Amino acid sequence: MPEFRLFPDQASTLAPRVDNLYFFLIAVSAFFAVLVTAAVIVFAIKYRRRSEDEVGVPIHGSLALELIWTGIPFILAMVMFVWGASVYFAIVRPPAETLDIYAVGKQWMWKFQHREGQREINMLHVPANTAVRMIITSEDVLHDLYFPSFRVKTDAIPGRYTQVWFNATKPGTYHIFCAEYCGTRHSAMTGTVVVMSPEDYAAWLSGGVTEGTLGQRGEKLFTQLACSTCHMGGDTQRGPVLNGLFGSTVHLANGETVTADEAYIRESILNPTAKVVAGFPPIMPTFQGQVSEEQLLSLTEYIKALPAGKSAPGVGQLTEPVPQAAPVLQMKPQTTGAQPESKP
Ligand code: CUA
Repeated sequence: MPEFRLFPDQASTLAPRVDNLYFFLIAVSAFFAVLVTAAVIVFAIKYRRRSEDEVGVPIHGSLALELIWTGIPFILAMVMFVWGASVYFAIVRPPAETLDIYAVGKQWMWKFQHREGQREINMLHVPANTAVRMIITSEDVLHDLYFPSFRVKTDAIPGRYTQVWFNATKPGTYHIFCAEYCGTRHSAMTGTVVVMSPEDYAAWLSGGVTEGTLGQRGEKLFTQLACSTCHMGGDTQRGPVLNGLFGSTVHLANGETVTADEAYIRESILNPTAKVVAGFPPIMPTFQGQVSEEQLLSLTEYIKALPAGKSAPGVGQLTEPVPQAAPVLQMKPQTTGAQPESKP
């Protein structure tokens, strides 16, 4: 018979923090539920009507009583608020250094991509004692990537990147669920996260990738789709050169500026006329329908890693694993006066 458990494992640094807050809320609720119930019963007995013509004594208020029943709930509510806010911020703010893994939700499966090239479906390998950040999107409808044992989850939203982070503390296998109703087989949209020691994870990562890293796959695609024709400088250049684009401030034809984050790169590939870079004609065709979410991730990964300071990058420069790029989704303020050119 399977072991009956009220709670999943506490397998991340955030799990005990979430649980402790939850237990506190339950304890406060239980205490007052018992107190109120007991008062109702005791008072009903003690102050019951004893004769047909008995009338209650009028009450004219009590300042002390009112201060107490206002003050105590106020203090309790403030404790819950401050405590809850601190846990919330710990969950939504990943540390500066994270291991980034991409997740794509699809009816009805989870697809994961490691930057080193490994791809997984409904199975995710992560190292223990490492801050892991999932960068999440969806190919079709709303999903929600949920790690019960880590006590974190986030919506997977089509057309957008969201993120969630965790630091798994115990090697083992744990559930992955979809926590947003997404169609007939929503309840079957599950998976397994395998937490390994960092050494085992490194060994697992180095095993059997033939397609190259995510960035190398992006580079190949960049050439295949002929992005390189217009975005590489030289005689055929018709769009902005993309070196050093990621994280920079881009000046648009309509006078606005935008920070080149992942969402901007994604939009510029799928809907190039949405934000046209100043100084360039709106001639880029859309790649909507021609590239999958996974291919978009690899293109983004490639473009993110293009080093600044070279006017004409050479295809083929990514022979080494992609260096850790600037954190995704995080707006980097521009620090230099020079405006890097960008693509429409
Ligand atoms: Cu995907 Cu529910």
